[in-house]
Amino acid sequence: MSAVLKTVPSMRPMGPTDVERVLAIEQDIYAHPWTRGNFRDSLQAGYSCWVMECEGQLVGYGVLMVGVREAHLLNLSVARHWQRRGFGRRLLHHFIDLAVGYEAQRMFLEVRPSNVAARALYADSGFRELYVRRGYYPTDDGREDAILMGLDLAAGEAGVTDMP
Ligand SMILES: CC(C)(COP(=O)(O)OP(=O)(O)OC[C@H]1O[C@@H](n2cnc3c(N)ncnc32)[C@H](O)[C@@H]1OP(=O)(O)O)[C@@H](O)C(=O)NCCC(=O)NCCS
Repeated sequence: MSAVLKTVPSMRPMGPTDVERVLAIEQDIYAHPWTRGNFRDSLQAGYSCWVMECEGQLVGYGVLMVGVREAHLLNLSVARHWQRRGFGRRLLHHFIDLAVGYEAQRMFLEVRPSNVAARALYADSGFRELYVRRGYYPTDDGREDAILMGLDLAAGEAGVTDMP
């Protein structure tokens, strides 16, 4: 169980001036982080990019790509120091709410099979594991599969029933 969240974090859209701080967190928490260009491209493409702040610090962020009736969560991250305090769950639910607001019917994401924490968070929030994308992620010595997970937004927490 996460520690009780004593301070309520706030969400705001990510801007170009956030990218350096976001990148510092990204490089700290991922072995194969997004690049500065990935974040800049996401902002320029008009993806829904948000940061979470708490006690004046940037504690998390995420990127949601919204298409026709579908949303795809491309990044969800909490700074190492702030993990296991409920922020990841709050961030995820912020993006689920956004997807619902955009009238998406389904929401998808990829996760590494080795990422026990993220898989538990997604499963706990109603995402179902749909299928495996072979060799999707880079690793130090090759490639790692990705699990595609989906949430049926039209059916609340019922989960996705069809393949995309
Ligand atoms: C995955 C991540 C976003 C979770 O954020 P967080 O703020 O630490 O998670 P929360 O405190 O909100 O925990 C929510 C749930 O996630 C799961 N979880 C989180 N950390 C976990 C861990 N170390 N081990 C197992 N389950 C974990 C639990 O189910 C937890 O619920 P519980 O507290 O009731 O047990 C965060 O660990 C992170 O940024 N990791 C590095 C980047 C990453 O892997 N992003 C996801 C890419 S797909």
